[in-house]
Amino acid sequence: MTTTTAVRITGLMKSFGDLEVLRGVDLDIGRGSIFALLGSNGAGKTTVVRILSTLLAADAGSAVVNGFDVAAQAADVRESISLTGQFAAVDEILTGRENLVLIAKLRHLEHPGRIADEQLDRFSLREAGSRRVATYSGGMRRRLDIAMSLIGDPPVIFLDEPTTGLDPQARLEVWQSVRELAHGGTTVLLTTQYLDEAEQLADRIAILHEGRILVNGTLAELKALMPPAEVTYVEKQPSLEDIFLAVVGPRAAAGSALNHTAATRSPQTTEV
Ligand SMILES: Nc1ncnc2c1ncn2[C@@H]1O[C@H](COP(=O)(O)OP(=O)(O)OP(=O)(O)O)[C@@H](O)[C@H]1O
Ligand SMILES: [Mg+2]
Repeated sequence: MTTTTAVRITGLMKSFGDLEVLRGVDLDIGRGSIFALLGSNGAGKTTVVRILSTLLAADAGSAVVNGFDVAAQAADVRESISLTGQFAAVDEILTGRENLVLIAKLRHLEHPGRIADEQLDRFSLREAGSRRVATYSGGMRRRLDIAMSLIGDPPVIFLDEPTTGLDPQARLEVWQSVRELAHGGTTVLLTTQYLDEAEQLADRIAILHEGRILVNGTLAELKALMPPAEVTYVEKQPSLEDIFLAVVGPRAAAGSALNHTAATRSPQTTEV
């Protein structure tokens, strides 16, 4: 494993009873990159993430995270990572800021209040910070969840389906946060069922199917697997997502490119 590799998975196997979920998974994830693991429901994405996070033991094979073996050096792995699970893990009774302060204290960090405020700013939650999480929208909860898992600036983060169930605006906000993390040098492994999410975000993409990685490469490399494109005339209709974003407009914190597209379209009326 070189210092440029943040995660290395070799021959990983895992069964639940008779169900062979992982049947020899191999993956390398470069430091500071965004890696997307794609797969259908039940493909084993969460199983991979749970093994990498030391929550589940593999039956065979090895996984090394930030230079530490998940089986032999679990405590070091846990110090190196954060995990944002498939379902938000925020405390509804507390305010957003209290949730963040709690995590900073649990991690024994100095100045937990200051850290909480920095995270609220980073995820555009400053104004909502003093409200109970029970009043948050799904997108705000997801952002708070990610903000909580980033406290302490772990070098490797796992995001298990970070945008499932979010509206298009909230997805853009989460995407923007993920891009900023990678720019800052954090390695991101995300799982997703959304092909466009992988296209938009990931430096490399792997497809997990029937227990194995079928393909693994950059988007350009994956496209090169298909026959050469044929030039045909197709009238390009806007997608419903284009229309939704043009009418509603992304929130201020969302990605700049899409922001611009929506802003320049700005229709006069919503009645069509
Ligand atoms: N603890 C467990 N006990 C028994 N079966 C399990 C357990 N955890 C996962 N499985 C099974 O293993 C398979 C893979 O599950 P996993 O959660 O890894 O899939 P996934 O790719 O994350 O799916 P999804 O997209 O629905 O989140 C599924 O068939 C699931 O039912
Ligand atoms: Mg899952």
